[in-house]
Amino acid sequence: MTTVLDVQRFKDEGRRFAMLTAYDFLSAQILDEVGIPILLVGDSLGMVMLGYPTTLPVTMDEMLHHAKAVSRGARQALLVGDMPFMSYHASDEQAIENAGRFVKEGGMHAVKLEGGGRIIELTRKLTGMGIPVMGHLGLTPQFVHQMGGFKVQGKTEAQAARILADAKELESAGAFSIVLEGVPSGVAGRVTKALRIPTIGIGAGPKTDGQVLVFHDVFGLTTGKAPKFVKRYAGVAEEIARGAQRFADDVRTGTFPGPEHEYSANGATQSVEPKRDQVKYGAT
Ligand code: KIV
Repeated sequence: MTTVLDVQRFKDEGRRFAMLTAYDFLSAQILDEVGIPILLVGDSLGMVMLGYPTTLPVTMDEMLHHAKAVSRGARQALLVGDMPFMSYHASDEQAIENAGRFVKEGGMHAVKLEGGGRIIELTRKLTGMGIPVMGHLGLTPQFVHQMGGFKVQGKTEAQAARILADAKELESAGAFSIVLEGVPSGVAGRVTKALRIPTIGIGAGPKTDGQVLVFHDVFGLTTGKAPKFVKRYAGVAEEIARGAQRFADDVRTGTFPGPEHEYSANGATQSVEPKRDQVKYGAT
């Protein structure tokens, strides 16, 4: 199983690594079996799974519901639970309790928190209790209203210096890695070089130690235009639309169900349940 020590080793050995978001049992199983070393149950699930306009409405209970499904699907990957907005803001007690729920109830191995400032002290507390912490700096979506929109961060020298200082403090506080989102490539490169722990970029250029993307963006499960930093590796939404149209056509024309899909009254007793290994990836 991938551990936080392995993630550090990736950086020490100069091995670039991938992280993907996962939100359910099946996608976690697929990503895990192809060897994606880190799966993040991101609060982006609020937008891509639940249809909220931002990540802000996502609740701890919604996150746990998906975390539990992911932990049932993954065997090898390091699983990171993303602390949703207002699940760690009211007090350290609230943050510790919710981080603990991710580990105890959700089956996560680590948590991710957005921002610097008081998150640094909180990181020290959580890691001191045995809960590994992934930091998240730059474009932090939970600060969308403070940032005035989803805008690239770190464009001025003062902003870049702030990100670098926060990253160093998170490292000192015990964070095992830091996501750098929506920052210029040069800034991500500077931070990556200055840190002992790995950085994981999204919209942060090629100089980070790892790269993360959102499942729905990578596999084309969205209908709109993907952001500039996304590379699409499949077109699942189009495939589903094509398949759904063919199914509806087959039903309309009477082509489905065919004889091969029917049960007869005579012959051996048949189970309607496929065997477990036959339903792997949904193939029957
Ligand atoms: O919620 C999420 O998916 C994230 C990643 C984009 C890093 O925080």
